[in-house]
Amino acid sequence: MENVSIGLLGFGTVGSGVVHIINAHQDRLEHQLGCQVSIRKILVQDPTKPRKVDLKDAVLTQDVNDIIDDPTIDVVIEVMGSVEDTKDYVSRALRNKKHILTANKDMMALYGNELLQLAQENEVDFYYEASVAGGIPIIRSLVEGLAPDRLTNLMGILNGTTNYILTKMSQEGRDYADVLKEAQSLGFAEADPTSDVEGLDAARKLKILASLGFSMDIDLADVSVTGISNVTQNDLEFCHQLGYSMKLIALANRDNGKVEVSVEPTLIPHEHPLAAVNNEFNAVYVNGEAIGELMFYGPGAGMLPTATAVVSDLMTVIKNMRLNVTGNSMTPPQYEKNLKTDDE
Ligand code: NAP
Ligand code: HSE
Repeated sequence: MENVSIGLLGFGTVGSGVVHIINAHQDRLEHQLGCQVSIRKILVQDPTKPRKVDLKDAVLTQDVNDIIDDPTIDVVIEVMGSVEDTKDYVSRALRNKKHILTANKDMMALYGNELLQLAQENEVDFYYEASVAGGIPIIRSLVEGLAPDRLTNLMGILNGTTNYILTKMSQEGRDYADVLKEAQSLGFAEADPTSDVEGLDAARKLKILASLGFSMDIDLADVSVTGISNVTQNDLEFCHQLGYSMKLIALANRDNGKVEVSVEPTLIPHEHPLAAVNNEFNAVYVNGEAIGELMFYGPGAGMLPTATAVVSDLMTVIKNMRLNVTGNSMTPPQYEKNLKTDDE
């Protein structure tokens, strides 16, 4: 195997980051992987738009079939967002034996099990580290590093946009709408930021992490969700005076055989490590019966941090391809279905 060919679906914030990292580290990738890595084709909506990074030999296309039906493409990286059409593209690519990488938590929260199953049936790799907490390798840590343990509690700041807004409002006294616009221009927010500010983005990420961490197929509808759109400057000042920071906290708690899941603005004492997680940074605080307390911290959104997670997954896939051991994924462990409720 001398060359691995990639098709990219999407060339926005994350897609540009992926192209930038692959271009900038071409020699190092080649040295570590023992083969060339080439981006061949990129799906976009508007090919005339100015782009932030050099395309090199890649060509832009508006027809997804140019990528998913191209027998020379080995790996499809999905960084375009949306759910139904995208799930259809990814499913077709899997049936065409393409390895898949995605940063799409919306699609994974709704159809992750189905897509992972399809990947297994087609004996191709499927990785999605970038879908939760940007550059933090949290999915790999839950599925591999913490596999021997039994988690009791997982608590996190999983949305960069809302953490950015709360930080700037409370520390700089800035206006909500003004900071939201800034988060959009920095590439942190979703195309429609409603899912960020109303807590749904964090809920989808919590569903993914809690299902993996607690070995249960947690239903998105079971996550009780409140966003930050009604939080005022006065609320934040009052919290500060009482010795608290307000954070949008995603919480999963194992209690008596049940896992309770919620996303809501929460008062965190100033001395708690999560209170120091500011701007677009994310953190995941995990409690396990054997490991005790662990905290993962890092940039939760943005071009290069998120792209780092995608390219790391790409390197894993290429190593698997070289070893001829494809058909892998961060598959949920066997779900502990009997633990879902007290009655079951
Ligand atoms: P983005 O900047 O809006 O880019 C989306 C890209 O996809 C654009 O290049 C767009 O084409 C293309 N696209 C969208 N719909 C298309 C369609 N129907 N047909 C063809 N091309 C289409 O989005 P992003 O911020 O990079 O996010 C991409 C994915 O990564 C999303 O699932 C998001 O939730 C996830 N994610 C984002 C971040 C982040 O920090 N931004 C972090 C983690 C995960 P044009 O360029 O021509 O408009
Ligand atoms: N809109 C998301 C956030 C992007 O702000 O966290 C990263 O998933």
